[in-house]
Amino acid sequence: MKKTTHHLALLTFAATLTLAPLSAKAQKWEGLARTPQMGWNTWNKFAGRINEKLIRETADAMVSEGLLDAGYIYLNMDDCWHGNRDADGFITENREKFPSGLKAVSDYVHSKGLKFGIYSDAGRKTCGGFPGSFGHEYQDALQYARWEVDYLKYDWCETEDINPRGAYPLMRDALRAAGRPILFSMCEWGQSKPWTWAAEVGHSWRTTGDISAIFDGKGRRSWENSVMTILEQNVGLRKYAGPGHWNDPDMLEVGNGMTVNEDRAHFTLWCMMAAPLILGNDITNMTQETREIILNRDVIAIDQDTLGVQGLRLKEVDGLQYWFKPLAGGDWAFCLFNRGEAPISQTIDWQTLCFTDEEVSGLSTAFDRVTYSLSNLWEKPSKKKARPITTKKPLKVTVPGRDVLLYRLTPVK
Ligand code: GLA
Repeated sequence: MKKTTHHLALLTFAATLTLAPLSAKAQKWEGLARTPQMGWNTWNKFAGRINEKLIRETADAMVSEGLLDAGYIYLNMDDCWHGNRDADGFITENREKFPSGLKAVSDYVHSKGLKFGIYSDAGRKTCGGFPGSFGHEYQDALQYARWEVDYLKYDWCETEDINPRGAYPLMRDALRAAGRPILFSMCEWGQSKPWTWAAEVGHSWRTTGDISAIFDGKGRRSWENSVMTILEQNVGLRKYAGPGHWNDPDMLEVGNGMTVNEDRAHFTLWCMMAAPLILGNDITNMTQETREIILNRDVIAIDQDTLGVQGLRLKEVDGLQYWFKPLAGGDWAFCLFNRGEAPISQTIDWQTLCFTDEEVSGLSTAFDRVTYSLSNLWEKPSKKKARPITTKKPLKVTVPGRDVLLYRLTPVK
């Protein structure tokens, strides 16, 4: 009897010994994406039409247009940069598209003060049909580190017989082993509900299928999701987001063909949802309207707020949506969103908007006890009132169709 107990104890001890190194290894690169990542990606505008010239010119424009200064630090290449695997199985770049090679391109991007991102896929092939990382995870991570890559978007095509709960941690471990801090952006389209299991794996996870530059309704093709379809899928997932692990409702379509008010609403709602802000337009050729949207620092600050709470949709009154986002230091972002096409006029009675964010932050608006001053973040500075408006009086608003009003509320001392 005693002997059996002894054997059991030994067996348990041995099991602990073999399991310990495994669990100690399971760590993503910490300290990245403490606020949602910001940058630019080739896909939404250029799809497979990418090359060295585009990357270099975009790097130049990100600096000269003030995007880097505003926080857009990652320049990310999406699908279709690949050549073949070499004799040892290492991935190479397409030398026709990138004659100087990706190390030189990466050096150029870094010389501008930007960070460099790349794309791969957990399956045998990428969505564009190029070599995926399946079976080459450690080699690929090592190659990205050699190219001094800072960001990996990891897609989910050609993965029929693969489990995401194995495939994504495998690449996380490979990135860790390669020794270079690389932000890990999971792109599995929300199929396995990564928000429930991936906080320890990636810095963000896609919650939906692909976005397109359509504001509402259905796209012409099955994979084209409108901004509104995506919004509805992402809005309920707020409790899963936080510093270092964000819900990703896909990249921005600002400047890609929607109207200015639709672009403004899309950008604002992504900021209210603490979404990664990855631009998807041609930034070497932008309109002034697009510039004013993506470079509005007060609005960006709502997204980048250090409290790191995804905002909530409190209610909808006669077609007007009321959104709140608690911010660091007692401020709140307050957004009125009109999804319909006709303008809506309403009077905002602050006393009806007292609530506590029970689900995530525990913070209360407390309009019955606290007076806030209001800053209208989309208003041109020339139009700003001499005397600031406060929540002491009801606010009369008119919100144009498919547009937003956005305010920052700051407690009056
Ligand atoms: C998938 C992703 C897109 C893009 C393409 C590239 O559809 O969801 O964001 O990366 O693949 O082929």
